[in-house]
Amino acid sequence: MSKQETKTKKAAPRAKKEEPGLVPIFIMGKRYDVPESLTIQKALEYAGYLLVRGCGCRGGICGACGTVYRYPESYRIEVGLACQTVVQPNMYIAQIPFFPGNKAVYDIEKLEPTGATLGALYPEIFKCVGCATCTRSCPMDIDVLGYISKAIQGDVTAVAENSFDCVMCGLCSARCPAEEVQYNVAILARRLYGRHLAPKAKHVAKAFQDVEAKKFDKALRELKGKSVDELKKIYKALEIEPDMAEEFWVPRDKSCLAED
Ligand code: SF4
Ligand code: SF4
Ligand code: FES
Repeated sequence: MSKQETKTKKAAPRAKKEEPGLVPIFIMGKRYDVPESLTIQKALEYAGYLLVRGCGCRGGICGACGTVYRYPESYRIEVGLACQTVVQPNMYIAQIPFFPGNKAVYDIEKLEPTGATLGALYPEIFKCVGCATCTRSCPMDIDVLGYISKAIQGDVTAVAENSFDCVMCGLCSARCPAEEVQYNVAILARRLYGRHLAPKAKHVAKAFQDVEAKKFDKALRELKGKSVDELKKIYKALEIEPDMAEEFWVPRDKSCLAED
């Protein structure tokens, strides 16, 4: 977070000394006393910052709120998501709402789903020194070094599967001594896997064939002839698929299903 990326509103009044339920934190060097139960993100807003960057879903999904902090008694730089990390007394906090990582431009249709593609678009993967700082930095507990190792080995499927929970926060990249952009390597692998390697869903292909063969036309014609009240009645009477339904579950009334 920088002055260009945030606007300050009138700051909340600062406590002269620590009050019950409040803890001191330092945002870009300035002290604020904030309720101890707040996340860093809410504490920033409590302190008067209007977050226009570095804030998205507020639920640990979008990865927009990467934050760096340190405790005064420790030399260690800590990282986390501002919306998921509760404040601790005397944290020194700064946000990194954007990390300028290398991002390859490509047409996924024209790429081969191979390790050579990963290496050609992101040759820096071969500079990895195996320090595991990326893994230690990841707020999603992903084995980042593990998937970068798989990228070096050319295993696109393993990179895609092992990076599935990545929220693209960039904290791994921000701390990597080899200047890797782990999350962009990972999303390339997931795109290659999804476009070229993942098994095709046979039931979706069959549904398309059934639509083209006009197997639903009769049922649709009948529905289009109904009044709104009749449609509501049909909708309410619909048999809902149970939560733990078997794989090939079908409703008792099969009149709207395509016949084989
Ligand atoms: S932080 Fe960078 S150099 Fe270290 S293990 Fe991760 S990818 Fe490799
Ligand atoms: S792999 Fe990197 S970008 Fe993805 S969630 Fe972990 S730290 Fe963030
Ligand atoms: S705001 Fe989306 S992960 Fe924190």
